Amino acid sequence: MADRISVMIPESVVDAKIKELGEQISKDYAGKQVHLICILKGGVFFACELAKRITVPVSLDFMQVSSYENATKSSGIVRIKKDLDDTIEDEEVLIVEDIIDSGKTLHYLIPVLQQRNPASIRLCALLNKPSRREVEVKIDYLGFDIPDEFVIGYGLDYAQQYRNLPFIGTIRPDTTGGGIVTEEVEGDSVEQE
Ligand code: IMP
Ligand code: MG
Repeated sequence: MADRISVMIPESVVDAKIKELGEQISKDYAGKQVHLICILKGGVFFACELAKRITVPVSLDFMQVSSYENATKSSGIVRIKKDLDDTIEDEEVLIVEDIIDSGKTLHYLIPVLQQRNPASIRLCALLNKPSRREVEVKIDYLGFDIPDEFVIGYGLDYAQQYRNLPFIGTIRPDTTGGGIVTEEVEGDSVEQE
């Protein structure tokens, strides 16, 4: 048995969109330096590709957060597992996140960062699930709206696996413990150990 993976957004489409976002960000921040804050771990693949497409000066910092949860639902309170290395005072901050789902993580985090007096603070997300939103979050730069399906790849994981897939996919997990992965990549079937 194997986890069944299907392509939702092919690599070429993701790459083209990131190029577009980079061009828009470069225009909007013309004459300024943009300070990217990558939200670990999911945002890291997107942040690297995006940074390469931005033509104004870029600095980069990382933050890791996790939400306190009880057995049934996310509390909306976020724990900072790894804080930024540097101050963001007077910086043009652009948060780079993989996906906005309930919105709770960023709804909590943005005001926390705002208190550190950046010159500005905006949000760039690769994916958005609008139908899942529980609290409002303003996304300034967005890759794709997607339906309410669990997705993997381009930084997004299922049990810490599949972050390295170069496309956005959906997964039907194998519950029998089989180690072989079958990918349906644009119609083809690929077997991986
Ligand atoms: P939010 O606080 O509900 O918006 O949570 C967003 C976080 O949940 C993301 O940063 C992801 O880590 C995780 N997440 C939400 N949806 C998915 C998904 O479809 N695949 C993988 N991770 C997801
Ligand atoms: Mg995340």
